[in-house]
Amino acid sequence: MNLPMDGSRLDGSRPPRPLIAPSILSADFTRLGEEVARVEAAGAEMIHVDVMDGHFVPNITMGPLVVEAVRGATGLPLDVHLMIDAPEKFIGEFARAGADWLTLHVEACVHLHRSVQAVREAGMRPGVALNPSTPLEAVRWILEDLDFLLLMTVNPGFPAQSFIPGMLPKIRAAREMIRAAGSRAAVEVDGGINPRTAREAVEAGAEILVAGSYIFGAADYAGAVSSLRVEERGGPLS
Ligand code: DX5
Ligand code: ZN
Repeated sequence: MNLPMDGSRLDGSRPPRPLIAPSILSADFTRLGEEVARVEAAGAEMIHVDVMDGHFVPNITMGPLVVEAVRGATGLPLDVHLMIDAPEKFIGEFARAGADWLTLHVEACVHLHRSVQAVREAGMRPGVALNPSTPLEAVRWILEDLDFLLLMTVNPGFPAQSFIPGMLPKIRAAREMIRAAGSRAAVEVDGGINPRTAREAVEAGAEILVAGSYIFGAADYAGAVSSLRVEERGGPLS
């Protein structure tokens, strides 16, 4: 299943804003299928899978085998975030494992445009992630090829870090750059999301929020997911 990026739904209703993508990095791995089912029941729109290789980032997490297992546990789109060197080598493998959205880091790709095309040719939605210090300029000329732009709001590698406030103007600038380019790319943010930073990020223009420790650390997953939806709390989008 893939969510349309233009906001339309089959029944004509508006999708929730923002879309919530729980990161299973903070789930209980001894009960992963159950954890995924719980966040799906809690109303999440997709499942975020953080793949780390111990080279691009100083941590090692999971790979295609876990994506395949999660694929069998949910009908939600799998949003797979590759924090690995030379991610182009693994595009086919993640497609076969069942990834729907595949994010490559610009800092890890020598031929970013080619790699983005390869993601689309493999049948997935391509996204590009930028580390906090990476300028938006790095994606300016390929915006029309992207389904989404993932702005890191922490330095990638670990869950439960603090949101970097200096990323808010970057989110605003990204939305403006995407609008000016006539691109339909969605802005996704990842790292340090809680109800307060969710509101700030959404006000700045974020449309998809990744949240790991906040959701999986909560006793009530449905309450945690809905507390990240600015709209439901009578925010500026209501
Ligand atoms: C950071 C990962 C994130 C992270 C989010 O390297 O890409 O997806 O796990 O975790 P929280 O929401 O705890 O910051
Ligand atoms: Zn991530």
